[in-house]
Amino acid sequence: MTPGLHKAGHDTETKAQRDGDAAMTTEAGAPIGAMPLYTHLERIERGLAAQGVAPGDPIRPEQLFPLDQWHYHGTEAVATAAERLGLGPQSSVLEIGSGIGGPARYLAHTTGCHVTAVELQPDLNDLGADLTRRCGLADHVTHLCGDALTVELPAGAFDAVVSWLAIVHIPDRRRLFERAATALRAGGGCYVEDLCAHAPFQGEDAVDLRDVVHGRSVSTIAAYVDDLQAAGFRDVEATDLTPDWAPFAHARLAAWKHGRAAYAAVHGDGAYDAQELFYTVIARLYDGGSLGGVRLVARI
Ligand SMILES: C[S@@+](CC[C@H](N)C(=O)[O-])C[C@H]1O[C@@H](n2cnc3c(N)ncnc32)[C@H](O)[C@@H]1O
Repeated sequence: MTPGLHKAGHDTETKAQRDGDAAMTTEAGAPIGAMPLYTHLERIERGLAAQGVAPGDPIRPEQLFPLDQWHYHGTEAVATAAERLGLGPQSSVLEIGSGIGGPARYLAHTTGCHVTAVELQPDLNDLGADLTRRCGLADHVTHLCGDALTVELPAGAFDAVVSWLAIVHIPDRRRLFERAATALRAGGGCYVEDLCAHAPFQGEDAVDLRDVVHGRSVSTIAAYVDDLQAAGFRDVEATDLTPDWAPFAHARLAAWKHGRAAYAAVHGDGAYDAQELFYTVIARLYDGGSLGGVRLVARI
């Protein structure tokens, strides 16, 4: 285990204890809040300050886009979903695992739709709600803190379900898709981007997948499609994004290392190291041939 992981894990064990939420501590491995991507949340306010936005000030959504899109290809990926799902001002969208609300705000801002953004971790959810309010989008994005496997969702209420890099954390994916299917109106759409497996994870890779990536449902693309179909989704279209995401992960790591001095000067070494650990592990898992990426588009 790397020194960076110990540090990130220690920081967020304290955070999980503070939150006192049993769901934060999983049956095996580190709590989700220890995942390096979810520590050092003060980096968002610091990133805004670097653009001249003071704490509590109004924010233009565009000022957040470099900070709040925690998936591959930033807002471009979210725009693709909006186009594939035909979202507009009348659309009601459910996002599973909304992080600090980046995709939800982008969808609301660019299409005028309404998004119910479900997020497990209270500190991320609270930060997301605050950012949404400061962007003037509170009427268009409802932040709901809870576990997507259990949180109350109205039946037949949504035109679309979307998710980026979140379902990987959720152990019972088939049940999740059954819930999503129930929450959608007849004919509603589903757009998911997520990690997948092309080969079994062995040794250190398996440990890092569990503890650094917090992978709980990483499977083959075929098994992913099976779970969607078992929940009643049809016209399932699966695209293997690995040839695009693997080089993206390497470019992201190289850019991160290149910007070390500037980032650490603003955010501190701890924040820099946490992200570098995450980016390094992800790049190595792609190199090993186990990790992949997938897009799934379907209809109920
Ligand atoms: C990699 S982040 C992506 C956030 C957002 N989708 C984005 O692309 O910016 C995945 C998010 O899923 C959330 N998550 C994990 N398990 C969840 C669950 N059972 N219910 C709701 N959210 C969950 C995590 O807390 C995390 O914020």
